[in-house]
Amino acid sequence: MATLITGAAGQIGINLTKELLKRGKKVIAVDSFITGSEKNFSLVPKEQLQFIECKTELLKIDQPLTEIYHLACPTGVPNLKTIPEEMISACVLGITNILNIAKEQKVPFLFTSSSEVYGSPEVMPQPESYTGNVDPLGERAPYEEGKRIAETITATYVRKHDVEAKIVRIFNCFGPHFSEKDQRVMPILLKQALHDLPITIHGDGSQQRTFVSVFDLIPGLFTVMEKGVAGEAYNLGSEIKYTILELAKTIIKTTNSKSTIEYTERPPHDRNKRQPNLTKIHALGWQQKLSLEEGIKLAVEYISQQEQQDPSA
Ligand SMILES: NC(=O)c1ccc[n+]([C@@H]2O[C@H](COP(=O)([O-])OP(=O)(O)OC[C@H]3O[C@@H](n4cnc5c(N)ncnc54)[C@H](O)[C@@H]3O)[C@@H](O)[C@H]2O)c1
Repeated sequence: MATLITGAAGQIGINLTKELLKRGKKVIAVDSFITGSEKNFSLVPKEQLQFIECKTELLKIDQPLTEIYHLACPTGVPNLKTIPEEMISACVLGITNILNIAKEQKVPFLFTSSSEVYGSPEVMPQPESYTGNVDPLGERAPYEEGKRIAETITATYVRKHDVEAKIVRIFNCFGPHFSEKDQRVMPILLKQALHDLPITIHGDGSQQRTFVSVFDLIPGLFTVMEKGVAGEAYNLGSEIKYTILELAKTIIKTTNSKSTIEYTERPPHDRNKRQPNLTKIHALGWQQKLSLEEGIKLAVEYISQQEQQDPSA
């Protein structure tokens, strides 16, 4: 009996795989490497791990499973231009195939959705009951609408096929094992700071974000898998807001960097503000434990180790 993790080579997937292996579980890790890196598996103990290189759309599993964490989806703003069809496919065909496996095997299923389902929110902070403000024709739609239809498919499998499926809406997670190609704000700024390069900020840096360490996020996934109600969504992230300028200054201070700050043009579809209302997941017993500074220190330790092993990283 094993836990199936899709998107296991990604930033969250590899940390989840390592944590489950540490707890003595057998893991079947699936990834197509469309955005994730095979290198992430190099330091993972292999005894209890089976890796399958495959798109979720085509996956077949004949071993008995105990549970499924479905993470596989291309992420990252630049990928909206280059692989939008693959995002839509993962969010429609990929999740449907994995939900069918959950249905056949009668096992609990957890889907990692995103704060992007709220689009450009008119409500602050966003509770799960907020239905969002998303443009189906917008540049971000392959991901935003993709996550929304993936949630709809999940809820349909709960109602029609009685699958025990839960949804987590993640708000900006960071930590060890982000991909070298990752264009999200935290990995870019951390790498710039560690090399004393100018820290590039889009616009005036007043756009606000919240950040949760992957070491807090993973217990949140376990909490929803164990105690969440099937068919319901749970926000997971941090309630503490930072402007991107404040984030840059915190990173410079925490890493003792000599970086300066450089302002660049802001992409037109960059979202201004997002903040989760975490009442629902707090009621299940989950709390964020790590501060931004503590999370940054843990991520930096990893980048430094990675660069020592592979100076081209
Ligand atoms: N990290 C965050 O801040 C964040 C925020 C919101 C939502 N999420 C969601 O959490 C999940 C994991 O995020 P992450 O940060 O680890 O992303 P990531 O991009 O690092 O990892 C995603 C992984 O999925 C794989 N993948 C993509 N499409 C696939 C397919 N069709 N078949 C098989 N593998 C496929 C990629 O190769 C990659 O390894 C994603 O679903 C993402 O949308 C993450």
